[in-house]
Parts: sequence; C-alpha cells; structure tokens
Amino acid sequence: MLTGRSLIDITDLSRSEVDEILDLASAISTNPKDYGDLCKGKILATLFFEPSTRTRLSFESAMLRLGGAVEGFATAQVTSSTKGETLSDTATVVSNLCDVIAIRHPKEGAALVASRASLVPVINAGDGGHCHPTQTLTDLVTINSLRGSLSNLTIGFCGDLTFGRTVHSLVRALRRYSGINFIFISPKELSIPPALRAELTKDEGLTYSEVSSLEEVLPSLDVLYMTRVQQERFVNLADYERLKDYYILTRAALKFARPNLLIMHPLPRVNEIARDVDSDPRAAYFKQVRFGLWARMALLSKVLGAVQ
Ligand code: CP
Repeated sequence: MLTGRSLIDITDLSRSEVDEILDLASAISTNPKDYGDLCKGKILATLFFEPSTRTRLSFESAMLRLGGAVEGFATAQVTSSTKGETLSDTATVVSNLCDVIAIRHPKEGAALVASRASLVPVINAGDGGHCHPTQTLTDLVTINSLRGSLSNLTIGFCGDLTFGRTVHSLVRALRRYSGINFIFISPKELSIPPALRAELTKDEGLTYSEVSSLEEVLPSLDVLYMTRVQQERFVNLADYERLKDYYILTRAALKFARPNLLIMHPLPRVNEIARDVDSDPRAAYFKQVRFGLWARMALLSKVLGAVQ
C-alpha cells in the first residue's frame, strides 16, 4: 500500500505497485472528472529549489484536478534558505502545513534528506543527476499507452546518459520487465554512470550495449529516448560547448527508423531534436506531458490514501 509513503527512487515501488499506478492513470485518463473530488481538503506543497516548467506545473495541475489545493515556491531565492535555513528544517516546517510535498533540488540525495525530516510523504521531483521517479512514471504510462506493453522492447537512450536523471530512473524501472534490450547511445564522456552499468552487468535476463552512432542503431529501435546535454551539471563549460550538439535527430534520419517507433524526450529540448520532427506521427514527446498529468494524479491519490 502506498498510503503515507515517500517516493525518492523509482525502486521504492515494487513492480506490482508501479503497475497499479499505471492502471489507475489509465482509468483517470479515460474519465478524469470522476476523480475530481478525490483529494478535496488536502494540500500539496511544491518546493522547487531548481528550475522546472513541466514537473512543477504537472504536480500542481494533478492536485487541482483531484480537488486539492497547492502552495509552494518555484525558486529558492524567495525562501528562508537564503538566510541559512537548512533543508531539513524547511521540510519539517512545511510538513506541518501540508499533506504531501513534491521537492526538486540540485543536490543528489536532497529529497531523501527532506523525507527524513518531514511529517508527511515526500515525492522526489528530481535531485541533481540522481533520479526523477515521477518522470519515470510519466514515461512508463506513455510507453504502455502508446505501445500497449512494457515488455519485449528495444529502447535506445541517446545523449547525456551521465547526468540524465530521467534515464537512470527509467532504466531501473524497465529492467523489471521481460524481453528488454537497452542500447545506450552517447559519446564516451557522457556514458551511463559506472554504478548503473554494474547493476545491468549483473542482470542475467537483460541485454544491453553501448554505442556512439545513433544512425547505426536507429533502424532497430522500438523506442528512442532522446535527452539534452545538461549544461547545469558541467564543471567546465568548454566541455558542454563541445558536446551539446553531438546528436541532432532530424526528419531525414527518421527515414531509416521503424514506422511505429516512439520518439520520447523528457523535455526541455534544446537542439537535439530538430523542429521538423515535431510533425512526424512518431514524435511522442509532447504527448508525454499529458500522460505525466495522469501519472501524477494516480500517484498523489495513492500516497494520500484516496485510492488504496
Ligand atoms: N521533464 C522535466 O523534468 O521537465 P522540467 O525540468 O521542466 O520540470
């Protein structure tokens, strides 16, 4: 049961708990108005210490559509953290005022620290380069809805696989399904973290490979998950400038891709997907945003105990 539990890492949820959230998200998407009073009287606090467009507004829309209310901040600059208040103290204080917290922070582990100090459940809305479990729920709902299954997929992750927290979370979620083949497409400097590689190496039921050419593997993919190079995580800006346009997916390149390929991206996009791809029917990255709304409605309903 998810009632009262925090979500810091996607692996905090069992496979069957994830599947329950996907089922509920699907039911909500069919008739969202049926769920309009589910969280009436409850308050979500959104504590965003790092910029966000989708995640914060998606959380807020989800809570409002469940009949609840929202409070919070979109930048640390307006909070007492600028006067030296610790994250733990902020979490304890806010948790006296609300029923659930969604937090984004540039430091890895910040959501866990907040959850230990909070009196209410804390949902990680992205902590540094670590993970982003509600983007993963969004991505799982998208793949499940548009392909009908999360099994027997060849999925290519392309771009910044070192700092891309959405990649780390999605890989850890998908490896629990059968027949998954991961292809990691990146320059060497932006390859998957050693800890994730070690996990995958130990997994006997899984196949994975690491390549640098997108063109070579594109024809074999069921799902292409593009990512931006994360400028804000680079120590040396010259390295970012050298790597930022390493991959640019164009409509011309898609000539060689499968007709039912799913092109995903957690967004924001910079240059890695050319604008002319947007009108390709295989582009799913803007649809993902809507699936994220259903996913967050399902998660909040469960964490707040409105649905068992
Ligand atoms: N996908 C995602 O996390 O987007 P934001 O940074 O805009 O929230």
